[in-house]
Amino acid sequence: MSHETPGQDRPLTTALAEAAATAGYAPSVHNTQPWRWRVLPDALELRMVRDRQLTATDPEGRLLALSCGAALHHARLALTAEGWTAVVERLPDPAQPDLLARLTGLARAGAAPEAMRMVQCMQVRHTDRRPVSDEPVSTSALGEIARAAADEGAQLHILDSDQVMELAAAAGHAGAVEAEDPQLREELLYWTSRAGTGTGLPPEVLPAQQAQTTVPGRDFGRAGTLPVGPGHDKAAVYGLLYGDEDEPDSWLRAGEALSALWLTATRLGVSVVPLSGVVEVEGTRQTLRHLLSGLGHPYIVLRLGIADPAHAGPPHTPRLPVEQVVDTSAVRGQPS
Ligand SMILES: Cc1cc2nc3c(=O)[nH]c(=O)nc-3n(C[C@H](O)[C@H](O)[C@H](O)COP(=O)(O)O)c2cc1C
Repeated sequence: MSHETPGQDRPLTTALAEAAATAGYAPSVHNTQPWRWRVLPDALELRMVRDRQLTATDPEGRLLALSCGAALHHARLALTAEGWTAVVERLPDPAQPDLLARLTGLARAGAAPEAMRMVQCMQVRHTDRRPVSDEPVSTSALGEIARAAADEGAQLHILDSDQVMELAAAAGHAGAVEAEDPQLREELLYWTSRAGTGTGLPPEVLPAQQAQTTVPGRDFGRAGTLPVGPGHDKAAVYGLLYGDEDEPDSWLRAGEALSALWLTATRLGVSVVPLSGVVEVEGTRQTLRHLLSGLGHPYIVLRLGIADPAHAGPPHTPRLPVEQVVDTSAVRGQPS
């Protein structure tokens, strides 16, 4: 997308369509990209796509809403970078639960260099599942990452070493529960066999063998082709993103916070890998709740660390063609 000075005479509908396209860079569970945008003359609507919901793994739609929230945050930033302000209405119509958000009240604003920088971070951000290097993440970086989440209404709790051990046990248990469930295995197989469709996880982004980690990562049920060194990610830090409520609105906001913290981490050279298995399994989600000692409801676990600088990481995971996620039919024929 363009990074020219904002405030030029580009029509609003062009800016809206470009923001929706830029949101395609957002992370999503199993790269399902469960969203669809509708460009209107004076608004942008975000809807969930139930066809791409993980009905076995995520029947309540938490991870779907988190993924859509990340896309919403990407679109908001892209609009800001292009010199627009917007009012965000989340779940604006109870009669239409699939309508997750509407961006309205669009008005011209001044230049936003920080947002422009974050749009550049969207293009380099990716999930690197290799063990992290021995370089520790600085306390100041962790503070900035947590502040980025807090600014979007969710909190990042950094686990101490005892809590990491509890998390490791919970992640191992969640992995075992999921591996025994044929429906979950089938769903995982589907999303790891989607080569050429622009969705799902190709072998190039999945580790070639089990990495040595304190907290087990997701077992994708098949080996990929991503080379994994012998390192053990002892320098990894684990964080738990949480908030006050356990409702669709708060899951959407948690996704916005996830995007904000991940883009900030990218700017600071910190790698982030979500570990959602522990929130997918009811029992281990309760363990996380207990671990928070009543502070709030867990949304997702994150591994933070500095990626191995010596070897190339995974390639970018493919995305759906823009025509499949951005509907511009309501503004076609308008000047652009
Ligand atoms: C809500 C959510 C949950 C995720 N859970 C996991 C996970 O458990 N394990 C993992 O390796 N990646 C996880 N991811 C990362 C996605 O697989 C990744 O974002 C997607 O494949 C797109 O790739 P990219 O992040 O490299 O652009 C998750 C992402 C989101 C947004």
